[in-house]
Amino acid sequence: MQKLLIKGRKELSGNILISGSKNSTLPILAASLLATDVKLTNVPLVKDIFTMCKLLKFIGISIKIKKSNKTIHLKQKTNIKTLAPYKLVKTMRAGVLVLGPLLTKFKKAKVSLPGGCAIGTRPVDLHLFALKKLGAKIKIKDGYIIADASKGLKGAKIKFPLVSVGATENALLAAYGAKGKTVLSNCAIEPEILDLISFLKKLGSDIKIFGRTITIIGKSPKNKKINHKIIFDRIEAGTYLIAGALLGKKIVIKKIDPKTLIFEINILKKMGIKIITSKNSISISRTNNLKKIELITKPYPGFPTDLQAQFMVLMTQANGLSKIKENIFENRFMHVPELKRMGAKIEIKNKTAYVYGPSNLNGAEVMATDLRASVCLVLAGLIANNRTIINRIYHLDRGYEFLEKKFQNCKAEIKRI
Ligand code: EPZ
Repeated sequence: MQKLLIKGRKELSGNILISGSKNSTLPILAASLLATDVKLTNVPLVKDIFTMCKLLKFIGISIKIKKSNKTIHLKQKTNIKTLAPYKLVKTMRAGVLVLGPLLTKFKKAKVSLPGGCAIGTRPVDLHLFALKKLGAKIKIKDGYIIADASKGLKGAKIKFPLVSVGATENALLAAYGAKGKTVLSNCAIEPEILDLISFLKKLGSDIKIFGRTITIIGKSPKNKKINHKIIFDRIEAGTYLIAGALLGKKIVIKKIDPKTLIFEINILKKMGIKIITSKNSISISRTNNLKKIELITKPYPGFPTDLQAQFMVLMTQANGLSKIKENIFENRFMHVPELKRMGAKIEIKNKTAYVYGPSNLNGAEVMATDLRASVCLVLAGLIANNRTIINRIYHLDRGYEFLEKKFQNCKAEIKRI
């Protein structure tokens, strides 16, 4: 098992190039089932993407990944298997996103129920609720979702009881080929969803967005060649912004659109961090007098749950009592016991973490539990005294491309052992 070894308290300076978005690439890979020839560029070379490609290959898509220029070329052959097996969905729950496209184009699908994960039970009831509204017959058997739409899907009015990224994506993918008009309300509107919509528009889809309502006029899938560049990863960018806030002499984060990070930028400014934004980069430096802050995780454009753990590390260095309420997932504080072992002063009371700072963190041997908790431990290791060893970094490799290299380029002492 590989580990990361970090020697803390090194001042960081240099440029960081942000990769393509994992959470945009995954639904767009699923959407590729609706086309016949797709070329994706600016794809992040991270484990979840390779797992999704393995699933699409199993279904019958021929896939060429060119690592040199981060391109994936997908071509649809004839014999499509409308099956997503447990072995490929259990490690990467976004595999459930093939349900919508398989149903709307091939009128049936058998997809393994994705397991839960460290951060929560991760149900898919809202995905199934939407597909049933579109006319799918769905039953659960032996841990599989067995869906049938032999007469084709039909447009419908669907109001989500709660905002869900994945359910919005699956509903969009199914509505693409449903007969007539679909109106989805109370949708998630993350930038990754807007990227999926721009991909579906290239497939001829007529989609309009008003606030959290999305309308789609169904289309029959076209045999079209599609080229699409994946948007940048705003969560990766946010993670490096926090590294700059913690240790930056001056870090410049490039290949991004600061507009989608407005919320995070304003929080950091409120905490006293110096930030200068340009059209596609942000430069950031640390401050000695970090102000406390109170945050609640919300769907976009609110504070993203995927940056909760990372911001908590910053709060350990702020003056006074900071608070962070995790409102999206039921168990996303797995990083707290590890941070406390490094000397952080954090108490948790009903979904809120109370973080007392500033506290001196000390290097320790720690264990990653999920993707964003792992990167929070990297940030903690970078500001802690002495050495930190992080175990189970396969979690990290699911969503951060070339993490050590990007930090080494900014003079951090971090290496994989
Ligand atoms: C997506 O997960 C992201 N994953 C997550 O990022 C992200 O944390 C999450 O959205 C919230 O922004 C990808 O895009 C691949 P949800 P998703 O459906 O779609 C509940 C990362 O680190 N819910 O918006 O699974 C659910 O339990 C990952 O990159 C239901 O109850 O999230 C949660 O409490 C982690 N029923 C809330 O909704 C459902 O059918 C939001 O989940 C679906 C979700």
